[in-house]
Amino acid sequence: MADPWQNAMDHAVAVARKAGEVVCEALRGDRAVMTKSSVVDLVTQTDQKVEQLIIHSVKEKFPTHRFIGEESVAAGEPCVLSDSPTWIIDPIDGTTNFVHAFPFVAISIGFAINKQVEFGVVFSCVEDKMFTARRGKGAFCNGEPLQVSRQEAVEQAMVATEFGSNRDADVVNKIFQSLRNILCLPVHGVRGAGSAAINMCLVASGCVEAYYEIGIHVWDVAAASLIVSEAGGVLMDVEGGDADLMSRRIIAANSKTIAERLIKAIVPFSVPRDDAA
Ligand code: IPD
Repeated sequence: MADPWQNAMDHAVAVARKAGEVVCEALRGDRAVMTKSSVVDLVTQTDQKVEQLIIHSVKEKFPTHRFIGEESVAAGEPCVLSDSPTWIIDPIDGTTNFVHAFPFVAISIGFAINKQVEFGVVFSCVEDKMFTARRGKGAFCNGEPLQVSRQEAVEQAMVATEFGSNRDADVVNKIFQSLRNILCLPVHGVRGAGSAAINMCLVASGCVEAYYEIGIHVWDVAAASLIVSEAGGVLMDVEGGDADLMSRRIIAANSKTIAERLIKAIVPFSVPRDDAA
């Protein structure tokens, strides 16, 4: 039977590529910076322009579909994941990287029905890497199949994480306690690309065994969550149990063994859910 969402996925890939051209072009010019929830939570006109470009283009083809977009939510739109077909968009994942021309930025487009991600597209535009996954059909980078690492020994693992944009001293202490615990397991190394979506694509590619973060949003991880699971990886909450896309906490790993070992080392802290009223 033909895939009912192939058209939508093809459209997501095409519009992500177009958005990538806009982002790469903007990287060559001036980038005026504005702030959102804190002085280190950055946004630029390019984030807003690219989100509108994607939403307008999708609306023309799929007028009844819904959207959760990072910049639309920042502008006051509700962040609700219903059972309806919903496009979950981060126009620039890695905005701080973008501002500094640190070359890891991605356009992230997830598509969910009945709260389940059906396809995910992450375009790391400076690297020119198009990561895609369709539920049940595998994950790919530029058309090549992806497979997570088979490493099960945490002592030989590479772990990715981020510091996020919360500078509350108690939160920063907990982030550093987790890092300390993980470094002392020990692990081979800790890295961070500055983009949740790219970190997760690194898990899917087998370059790092795991990525975790508390404070991300649904638009950072929706598309990449399917890319990880279709590459054979697992998604969990940082305190164990199933991952919840709206909870703002995630661990994406090559295996349950590695995820559970890291979960024991992570010091959790609470953040308001994306769908908190
Ligand atoms: C951010 C990036 C960053 C992560 C933050 C995210 P944005 O997304 O993914 O790596 O640490 O938690 O919010 O704001 O650049 O789309």
